[in-house]
Amino acid sequence: MCGIVGFVSEKNCLEEIKGGLEKLEYRGYDSAGVAFFSKGKISTLKKKGRVSSLFPLLQGKTSNCGIGHTRWATHGAPSDINAHPHRCGKFVIVHNGIIENYGELKKELAKKDKYPLSETDSEIIAMLLDNCYKGDVVEAVREVVKKLKGAFAVAVLCEDFVGKIFLFKRENPLIVGRGEGFFCFASDSPALISHTPLLCKMKDGDICEIDKTQAIFYEEKGKIVERVFIPSSLKSDSANKGDFQSFMLKEIYDIPKAIKNTLCKFEKIGLSSLAQKKLRNANHFLFLGCGSAYHACVYGKYLTEKITPLCASAETAGEYRYRRSNLPKNTVVVAVSQSGETADTVTAVKKAKSEGAFVIAITNVPSSTITTFAHESLVTLAEVEIAVAATKSYNTQLVALYWLVSEVALMHKKATYGAVYLGEKLRSAIIKTLDVAEEMHRIAKRYLGISKVFFLGKNFDYATALEGALKMKEISYIQVEGIPSGEIKHGPLALIDENCLVVHIITDYTLLDKCLNVVEEVSARGGETLIITSLNLPDKGVKVVKIPKLDAELMPIVSVIPTQFLAYFMAVEMGLDADKPRNLAKSVTVE
Ligand code: F6R
Repeated sequence: MCGIVGFVSEKNCLEEIKGGLEKLEYRGYDSAGVAFFSKGKISTLKKKGRVSSLFPLLQGKTSNCGIGHTRWATHGAPSDINAHPHRCGKFVIVHNGIIENYGELKKELAKKDKYPLSETDSEIIAMLLDNCYKGDVVEAVREVVKKLKGAFAVAVLCEDFVGKIFLFKRENPLIVGRGEGFFCFASDSPALISHTPLLCKMKDGDICEIDKTQAIFYEEKGKIVERVFIPSSLKSDSANKGDFQSFMLKEIYDIPKAIKNTLCKFEKIGLSSLAQKKLRNANHFLFLGCGSAYHACVYGKYLTEKITPLCASAETAGEYRYRRSNLPKNTVVVAVSQSGETADTVTAVKKAKSEGAFVIAITNVPSSTITTFAHESLVTLAEVEIAVAATKSYNTQLVALYWLVSEVALMHKKATYGAVYLGEKLRSAIIKTLDVAEEMHRIAKRYLGISKVFFLGKNFDYATALEGALKMKEISYIQVEGIPSGEIKHGPLALIDENCLVVHIITDYTLLDKCLNVVEEVSARGGETLIITSLNLPDKGVKVVKIPKLDAELMPIVSVIPTQFLAYFMAVEMGLDADKPRNLAKSVTVE
């Protein structure tokens, strides 16, 4: 949802800004731009397209203070004019977020004969700053913030303050970094960690002013406050793809390590005594998330029902936030979000809390917005995930859910798999499953040109069907649907023909016969089925991909891997960029 980054340094820092933009490109890649001080004036360069299309414009330029932006378009199509930075008078800004009342604000400014050049909601910020400015930028920012509705993280350059950057935010993330001879900021830490591990997450309402020697923080009322910089736990190489062709492929191969680290951490830290008490008294689990995280929630629901006496439901956070929920007493809400910043999930967490639920967040980003609102947080150790399509973070979400729900099962004296079993058996099943990569590549080549794909699964396998379908549609742009196996005869069968592939996930022996009936029904209508299974199946004359066998409740952690490979190789064979699918961005911080 747009990435912003900037440096102010003793030396030329345009290379650092370029590097930061590349690291933030997963947040949007519709256009990119920079603004920097040059001989006391602000120069602005911007271009439609990926970050790399901006770089030729920067050749030969130097500056020791600048800001950059990579855009995911919300208001106004991707174009040079709508690209950030935006300028008005002495002010130049970059913005991540949405200004909801920009229409009203534009009308107000029009009365003063001030009109925007772009179709964006963001330009209004520069216009308002110019309008409110009386020589003190912090005061102008305070005035402007009062007028803005929506979410934002903004960086500002003002021509009266050469070598200074002003920052402010509401709801969207903004991190300030401190290093030897420089200060910097970004929407996310991977853009900064190769330069400095000392980071400070800005608080909502804070305004920060940085130059090459210091960062001054002001709280909402304008009073100077102390904010602490702490060393980041991220490794500086975690945002590199090494020898892999793409981040997505690397991240699939990271799964065993991510799972091991996550489990070890949870075993070591455990749950707080308050969470244990709430879980002991809980009678209902509501799992909330969006996209892949929602699919993890579907898994959480089936798991809770299978291994605990609690009832459970799963819902997309965006639906939950806009309905009357009548949550039963003693509901525990589990909010799942890789980034911890997804606007719908953050708002759903706030709503659940206001309805009296105890909220546990499962996220991959420590000190993300969700962790600040949840009562308890389980932070997975998938490390940075750069590819827009979630892979390793999804597997670690499932592991976190398994670990959490097992804790509840144990409270009810139900048997579960312990950490040793998970650490050994689950991990080795995953490592063996990674061997299907070549087979999935061959399958992707075989089905190249296919126009419709269904992913089917029952119960636990349904979660995998949903996730497999999302993975393929988001990076290969094929029309793909994930549905429960039994649902195909209630409508989708009408679409089955020789241009359709059905990928059927079958890993639960107790449901095998029912699933095989569906395989027959598809074949009888000329449809082609590919089965991904851990079971020994009778020959049905269809292609079968075999994966290691574990109990049904653990299989989704393993069986999703072939679907990740299939989606990846399909995109690669189609000549598409699997890491950066069109129209999407990671971390959806707008509604
Ligand atoms: C799909 C994908 C998205 C995210 C969704 C939620 O591959 O990555 O569907 O799962 O946008 O994001 P988080 O988990 O950050 O809340």
